[in-house]
Amino acid sequence: MATVQRTAIVTGAGSGLGRAIALQLAREGRDVACVDLHAATAEQTAADVEALGRRGLAVALDVRDAPAVRAMAEQVRDAWGRIDILVACAGVLKSAPVVELSEADWDWHLDVHAKGTFLCCQAVLPTMMAQRYGRIVTTVSGLAKAGAVGTAAYAAAKGAIVSFTLVLAREAEPYGITVNAFGPGPTDTPLLRGGVPPERMAETLRRAPFGRLPTPEEGAELAVWFTRDATAHITGRIFVQGLY
Ligand SMILES: NC(=O)c1ccc[n+]([C@@H]2O[C@H](COP(=O)([O-])OP(=O)(O)OC[C@H]3O[C@@H](n4cnc5c(N)ncnc54)[C@H](O)[C@@H]3O)[C@@H](O)[C@H]2O)c1
Repeated sequence: MATVQRTAIVTGAGSGLGRAIALQLAREGRDVACVDLHAATAEQTAADVEALGRRGLAVALDVRDAPAVRAMAEQVRDAWGRIDILVACAGVLKSAPVVELSEADWDWHLDVHAKGTFLCCQAVLPTMMAQRYGRIVTTVSGLAKAGAVGTAAYAAAKGAIVSFTLVLAREAEPYGITVNAFGPGPTDTPLLRGGVPPERMAETLRRAPFGRLPTPEEGAELAVWFTRDATAHITGRIFVQGLY
């Protein structure tokens, strides 16, 4: 029997963890659609996927844009015939205490993380359900439960993704689709370097085991693990790395 050529969609693929996940998926033989707000970085990752010998596709969109997300999923399905893997990794982080948090920044975090994850999952589900195969990985954070100062909008958004992931795992299970969340722990990416104020960096480092920030490539391992054929029996798991 011929082996199925697995295809993946990774959001936030232009930078940090999403980029590392896209490239590791390519190394493991997956074709990868690289989705990001920024066309240039999405195209760079897609080119690097191609350099690894797999098909790469760059799609520039905002994960908050429902029609664009639906069109992207259709584009991938039409081009490659399947959608096997979704890693919803796009994210933003801006620190502010609740008393100063703007309504716009609250909405921005909730929309990019929670709504973006919902829209991407919803867009790939019909294809995965028809295939009776799928690997969905959402991206969360230990900050959903840590109560860390300045992270109200980000933490609330990640908490929403935790709940969403648990529900979707139940709904998707009859169709052979696994749904798991990975929380990479503090990881050395532009989001962390730009979003954590200097006075909170020591606290962040205390949550990073062994006193160092893992690289995006190290952080990507857990997400990629959830996408493998061999993890068909694992669903509804919220795996948060780090000392929270
Ligand atoms: N770095 C960490 O310490 C850490 C810890 C826990 C969880 N996370 C999560 O990991 C994920 C990846 O973060 P990262 O650290 O690699 O950050 P990053 O800033 O390096 O990458 C995030 C990517 O998401 C893209 N993006 C942002 N808004 C978007 C939108 N509206 N539509 C499409 N793409 C958009 C950005 O352009 C960027 O390329 C995020 O969900 C983040 O919350 C990161």
